[in-house]
Order: sequence, then C-alpha cells, then structure tokens
Amino acid sequence: MEFSLTDIISICDFSKKDIDIVLEKAAEFEKMPVEKKAGILNGKIVASLFFEPSTRTRLSFETAIQNLGGKVIGFADPAASSTSKGETLSDSIKIISGYADIIVMRHFIEGSARRASEVSKKPIINAGDGANQHPTQTLLDLYTIKKEFGKISGLKIGLLGDLKYGRTVHSLMYALAHYPNTEVFCISPESLRMQQEIIQDNSEKLKIFETRDLQEFLPELDLLYATRIQKERFADEFEYEQIKNVFILDKKILEKTKKSFRIMHPLPRVNEIKPELDSTSAALYFEQAKNGLPVRKAILSILKDVEK
Ligand code: NCD
Repeated sequence: MEFSLTDIISICDFSKKDIDIVLEKAAEFEKMPVEKKAGILNGKIVASLFFEPSTRTRLSFETAIQNLGGKVIGFADPAASSTSKGETLSDSIKIISGYADIIVMRHFIEGSARRASEVSKKPIINAGDGANQHPTQTLLDLYTIKKEFGKISGLKIGLLGDLKYGRTVHSLMYALAHYPNTEVFCISPESLRMQQEIIQDNSEKLKIFETRDLQEFLPELDLLYATRIQKERFADEFEYEQIKNVFILDKKILEKTKKSFRIMHPLPRVNEIKPELDSTSAALYFEQAKNGLPVRKAILSILKDVEK
C-alpha cells in the first residue's frame, strides 16, 4: 500500500487508504516491543518546533522519536528562538529543513504549516495550526475509536464544547466523513458552533445535528468527544469568563447513557470532565492520550525517507 502524502498538514489531504495505512502501522507499533523498532530512525534528526504550548503532542512525538533511535532538535518555547528577533517562519523553516530530516511544528497562525511545507525540503508534520487543524490528534482519535468499538462507521458521536475554535474537532469531523453511516451531534453554545463551512463540506457524507442541549441526544450516543473552551483564541476575556463552564460532565450523565458509552477528550481538560468520571468505564481519555505514541511512531516511520 502506498502512502500518498509527503507532509501531514490537514486531515482533508488524506484518502481513506492513507488513514488506514497509519492506523495499521500504529497497531504494529503497539504490539511490537520497543527494542524491535529501535533502529527505524537511526541517523535521523527530527526538529520539534513548538510556537504554542503543548504537553502530550510534543512529548509523545519526542518520545516516539527517541524510542525509534532518532534525535530531536528544536524548542518548546519560541522566545528562545530567533522568532523573538523577528525572523519569519519561512526563513526559520528553510534553514531548519537543511538540518533536520522531518519537522514537527505547532503554530498559532492558521495555515502556517501549509506555508512551511511550501518552503521546506523535508516533510512537515502539523502538530496544530491555530484554530484550523490538528491531523495527528485525529489519527490517534480514530485509532482509539477503532480499538474501543471495533469500528468507526455507523457510530453516533457527540462533539461537545468549543466547536468554533477547537482544531481537534475540525479535523475529526472531516475524518469521520470517510466512515459511512456515522452520525455527528454538534453540541455547543450558540457562539461556539461548528463553522458552517465545515458542516457544509461534510453534510453529504455525515448525518449532522446541531444542538445547545447536551441532554437531547445523550441516550443515543456511543461516544462523546469533549473539548476545552479555547481561552487563548477569544478576543474578549469577559466573553470567555461567561462561557467557560457551560458544559461540565459528571457521573450523573451516566444515568442516561448506554452501557457501552465512552467519553474522549484531547486534553488538557479544565473543568469539562469531573475527576469522578476517571474511574468509570466511560473514561477513554487517558487511553486516548496513550495511543498518541504508537500513532506518532507510525507517522514518523512512514515519512522518514520522503523526498520532496
Ligand atoms: C489540543 C490542542 O492543542 O489542540 N490538545 C492536544 O493536542 N492534545 C486540545 C486543546 O488544547 O484544547
């Protein structure tokens, strides 16, 4: 099977086959003891450029790189790079692509990863560009769903919280469109609704419902994908304060849900999921975060020899 991409910029670039290649490789990595795959990135240098905060994405990428025998260069704080002296992203990427074999980057500007891929001689992996896309998160989300439910097609999936600024749910929505008969319930306050363009783009493939009321579809859902209200994207702090606790999931919701109901969250959570849910069978979010490792190993191993 041939993977068709030289960069991982948007989940919209992926064919179903591309997604399957990543998920199958990730399953291999998960089964394989670490030592067996240790040499895959031998002699390779991966740049890890984080212009925005990150815990899971950066550290799971860096762990994956080291587990596979590669070396990491980069920064977790752009203040320590020449960006703080006014260097443009294009210049930084042109230079760094002469040092590294793969570049993983997170940036606050939408479209920055695409721009970087245009000037980079080496593969770019988008680890989140502003409120736009977060394709590697989506791949680990799909991996988690498939592992838990044995399938993705036909599930009833609620997306909860900040659907306007949340890049994880934007990418996930496009990805789910590859899976027939999937129903998506967009649950958000009015001001944080899923962008209409994204709904339109996917409305032929997915059955999409929008509501402000979490209770409305709760008993039907197989999965609820909760998100953090993206404080850093609000122009007005007061508006954030008004809305920040709009949905708080606690044990009570489980009285209404199916037995097999699960909750996912890309994390970090702020107040969206009460810790009392962590020990219930519904909590899938820690398992989800763990799956970041085999999925990111799969992505790195697929891109390691790409010539652009
Ligand atoms: C998400 C992100 O950065 O978009 N986190 C992650 O990568 N796991 C979600 C968020 O920050 O709310």
